[in-house]
Amino acid sequence: MMHISSFKDMYLAELQELVSVETQLTQSLLRMAEIASHPSLKNALVHHRAQTEVQKDRLVSLVRKHGADPSAHTDQAMQALIHEAEKMVSILTGDDLRDAGLLASAQRLEHYEIAAYGTAAALAGQLGLREDQEILHRSLEEEKQTDILLTRLAKGEINRDALAA
Ligand SMILES: [Fe+2]
Repeated sequence: MMHISSFKDMYLAELQELVSVETQLTQSLLRMAEIASHPSLKNALVHHRAQTEVQKDRLVSLVRKHGADPSAHTDQAMQALIHEAEKMVSILTGDDLRDAGLLASAQRLEHYEIAAYGTAAALAGQLGLREDQEILHRSLEEEKQTDILLTRLAKGEINRDALAA
C-alpha cells in the first residue's frame, strides 16, 4: 500500500483522483448521451462531455506541473457511481422514464464532482497555490452550472413527461 506523508502529496493524490474521475466521465457521458431521448437532455450531456474533456486537460496540466504522473490513480467511488447509473438505466423501461433516471444519475455524478473539486480547491488554497486554486474553481463553477441546468431540465419537461408516461 502507498503511503502519503505530506499535505502537498495528499493534494496531488486528490488531483490524480480527479483526472480519473473526468476520464471515466468522458466515456460515461458519451454513452448517456447516446441513450438519452429528449433532445434537451442529449444536448446537455453532449455539451458537458466537451466541457469534461477541457476539465480533464486542465487537471493533467496541473499534475504534470507538479512533476507527478496524471494516470497514477483510479477513482473507485466514480467507478461505483457509474456502475450504479448504468444498472439503473438498464432496468428502466420507456424513453421518458429512462431519461428521468439518466438525469438523476447525471446529477449524482455532478454532485460528486462538485465535492471533489471543492476539496481540491480548498487544499490548493491552504498550500498557497493560487493559480491551481483558480483553475480548480473554474471547473468547480462549470460543474455547478451543469447541475443547475440539469435541475432545470428535471423540473421542466423531463420528469413531467416521465410522471405522465
Ligand atoms: Fe467534470
